[in-house]
Formats: sequence, structure tokens, C-alpha cells
Amino acid sequence: MLTTSERPQKFEEMIGQETVRRSLLNQSKKDTFFPTYVFSGKHGCGKTTSARILAKAILCRDKDHGEPCGKCAFCKAIAEGNELDVIEIDGASNNGVDKVRELIEKVQYRPVHAAKKVYIIDEVHMLSTGAFNALLKTLEEPPEWAVFILATTEPDKIPATVRSRAACYTFSAIKDSDLAARLDAIAKKCGRKITYGALKTIVKHSGGSVRDAIRDLETCFEAVYEDEEITLDHVVSTLGIDSSEQSMRLINALLNERIPDILETVNRWQEEGKQPAYVLGQAIEALTDIVLYITAQRAVYNPLALVEAYAANIRPDKAFFILKELLRIREVCRRENSYAVVAAELILSAREKQPDTSELLSRIEKIEESLKSGAGQLTLL
Ligand SMILES: Nc1ncnc2c1ncn2[C@@H]1O[C@H](COP(=O)(O)OP(=O)(O)OP(=O)(O)O)[C@@H](O)[C@H]1O
Ligand SMILES: [Mg+2]
Ligand SMILES: [Zn+2]
Repeated sequence: MLTTSERPQKFEEMIGQETVRRSLLNQSKKDTFFPTYVFSGKHGCGKTTSARILAKAILCRDKDHGEPCGKCAFCKAIAEGNELDVIEIDGASNNGVDKVRELIEKVQYRPVHAAKKVYIIDEVHMLSTGAFNALLKTLEEPPEWAVFILATTEPDKIPATVRSRAACYTFSAIKDSDLAARLDAIAKKCGRKITYGALKTIVKHSGGSVRDAIRDLETCFEAVYEDEEITLDHVVSTLGIDSSEQSMRLINALLNERIPDILETVNRWQEEGKQPAYVLGQAIEALTDIVLYITAQRAVYNPLALVEAYAANIRPDKAFFILKELLRIREVCRRENSYAVVAAELILSAREKQPDTSELLSRIEKIEESLKSGAGQLTLL
């Protein structure tokens, strides 16, 4: 799999996350590490990758300006997942209290042959309450040789007592341009041709997750003949990307308070496994076009004819309101990736009553006209 073969082995091979990388590299140069690290943030943006590189940086004895050498026995064993002093636990699968207790008991023993023992606990928020509490106890008083790296999408679940002693880093979505450059490099390395539009669409579809972007690129590699150039059409059909028509239909449902249509749309996203933040992004583009069309007879994301057809009979004030709501809901989705929450938010936005200002506007227009025509006196309308 490309996501695995393209996993960075050094800090400098990663894209984005500059602050995290710089800070970890500095600690590595000085060889001083925190007892606990909390890595949180967006999925597929480098939490596990950084945890493994950090583990190497902690154990490697032949570092180059803080970067692990990649050649010593420690680096090699960690890369292969065979290092006895680096213990990786997936909170999503080993969440039993017993498992964690067993692990915690072993923390008390010195490392087998390294200077430190590194525990990487992925998806720590998925641990059962009992297991999590047992872990927290250890984190409050860890033995000097232990380093814990906790990766989670819910850092708030880690109590302040632990966080205050830990180094906490947030991993953010990768910039489109950085992601596009990385995909382009991978495509070249694999000897594949892909158009700029196709590449850009994969990047947008990923919502800034490197894993998703690389996985989608690979899916397209598999779906298209090796000597053929991958085009936007290939990407759209291979990844099942929503057509602009579908986004327009959702917007219509929102503007006209058609709750069953909204629910049906969200159900379809779920069935097709579409990321809410991504499809909402498309709806935002479609609505931006509608607003642009209303105000300037232009469209930037969709064919003008399509926008024109949907822009008819739309109340501008409601369109602006829904656009603001969609932007807000997309942020909610980034924190809470739940279809039920998206559906509820969309329905509430659709139902929100907006004062009808069109009547007021027509009154103001009449006043302006009568002023312009020089009518000496204003009759109250
Ligand atoms: N910042 C990055 N630079 C380069 N490649 C990356 C980066 N982040 C992720 N990747 C790629 O995506 C894959 C998955 O990344 P990783 O496992 O580090 O994500 P994660 O943040 O731990 O995600 P999750 O929250 O789903 O566990 C890596 O193997 C690598 O190919
Ligand atoms: Mg991970
Ligand atoms: Zn090394």
C-alpha cells in the first residue's frame, strides 16, 4: 500500500506540521524528552508517523542533527515494529483493563537494551474507562525511563493534571499546495501521469488528510490503465465524487425547508461513505455560485446555466444565511464527524426563520425613486 510505503521515516520527510517537527527535532538534538506527549488533531495527518519517528529519535544512537539515522539496530527494529523497548498499543483494539494493567506493570521494569522505553498509545480516547484510569495513574508518576506518546482525536479527555506535565501538539490539515506537491511526487515516482485538475480534485476530496489523499491516488492508479493519463473524469467516477447537481439539490432543500430531502441527502452520504466536511464543502461552493449569480451574474465553481437554473426563485437573504450556516456546520463536522449531527444541524438551519426583508427593500426603493424624481414631498408609503 502506498500509504505504508510512503510513510515518512524522518522529520524532514513529513509535509506540514512545521511547529511540531521543529519542536521535536530540537528536543532530539538536545536529547531531552518529555515524559509524556499528547498528539491530537486531524486523522491521517501524521500523529502515528511522528510518534514512530520520535521513538526512533529517542532510541537512535547515531543521530544526524536530531534526525534518526535509519540504519542502526534500533531504527531498523522500530521501522519493522520489532523493537522490544518500543511498545505500540492500539486503544481501539486493546482496550481491556487487563491489557493496560499488564502493560503498566511492565513499565516498572527497566528497558531491555535501550536507554528508554517508549509507549505509543494510539486512539487513547477509545480505551475503556477502567483501562484509561489505570493508565492515568502511571502517567502521573512515570518511571524515569518511560516516555509515553498518546495519540488521540479527543485531547480534552486527557485530564489537566496529565496535560500540564505533557508536551501537547496539535496536528492540523495539510495545505492544498503541499499535498498536491506530495501527490505529484508520488505519481512521478510510480511512473504515472495525472492531469492537474485530477490531482487538485483528489487533494480537495481529502480535506487535508495525507492518508486519504494517498489512498485515493492509489485507487485511481488501480482503476486506470498504467500508460493512460489520469483525468478529472477518472477521478470523479472512481472516487464517486458528488456531482454539482447533487449539491444544488441539497441547497434547494435547505432554502425551501424540505426536511425529508435533507435527511435523504445525508443518508446517501453515509451509504456512499462520503465525508460530511467534504460534501459540505461542495455545497458551499455551489451556494457561493448562487450568491455570486444573484449579485453579479457570475459563477466560478459550476456551469453558469446550472447555477442560473437553481438561482431562480431564491431569496437572497436566506441564501446568505444558509451559506454562513454551511460554513459553520463544516467546522462542526471537522470536530465531530457524525452524520446524525450534520443532519440535525442542517435541519435546524433550514428551519431558522429569517425576516423577509424583500418587502422592506421594495419600500426603500420606492422612497429613493420618489426622491430622485424630485417629488417635493414624500407620501408615507
Ligand atoms: N505530515 C505527513 N507528511 C507525510 N505523509 C503523511 C503525513 N501525515 C500522514 N502521512 C501519510 O499518511 C499515512 C497515515 O498517517 P498517520 O498514521 O501518521 O496518521 P494519523 O495522524 O496517525 O491518523 P489517525 O488519526 O487516523 O490515526 C502515513 O503512512 C503517511 O503515508
Ligand atoms: Mg494514527
Ligand atoms: Zn538510528
